[in-house]
Amino acid sequence: MEQKHIYLIGFMGAGKSTVAKALAKKTGLPVMEMDDIIASRAGMPIREIFATQGEGAFRKEEAALLAEIADGEPAIVSCGGGLIKREDNISVMHSSGTVVCLTASPETILSRVAGDSSRPLLQGKKDIASIAAMIAERVPLYERAYDFSVKVDGRTPEKIADSILAALQQKDRRM
Ligand code: S3P
Repeated sequence: MEQKHIYLIGFMGAGKSTVAKALAKKTGLPVMEMDDIIASRAGMPIREIFATQGEGAFRKEEAALLAEIADGEPAIVSCGGGLIKREDNISVMHSSGTVVCLTASPETILSRVAGDSSRPLLQGKKDIASIAAMIAERVPLYERAYDFSVKVDGRTPEKIADSILAALQQKDRRM
């Protein structure tokens, strides 16, 4: 089967954007950074969209953008961490590409998001217990969504990208 999009999903701070860039370099495919596209179209950062229009409005934009990307040229798609909250989004990804989940320990996540104020859902929750609880709540959704998952703790974006490409090749061989 022809490989279409590679969707990178996973919790905030798991490294989707960085790994997407490494994959783009290795494959020559363009990167679609969903949060950046939504923010640029709205003319305001994500945290302001949440503050002024609410999470519901953001999720609607996110779903609309996903549908648009799914119909477009093959790309590495760096998804927002909460994209999988809508069941429809999972179906759209499955019918248009392969879904790869990056998983990281709460410690890794915390070290990456500690000084960051751009993610509204992490405000006031930058501690191991809160992050672990949020990850635990999301895990069933990520598990429903992904074709395979890759652990990122202590590994470079290049190594992670290589693992993903190797797994994709294996998957293609089985089809
Ligand atoms: C969110 C993740 C963020 C962004 C928004 C909501 C989430 O994207 O879409 O703040 O619900 O997990 P990143 O995963 O790229 O940080």
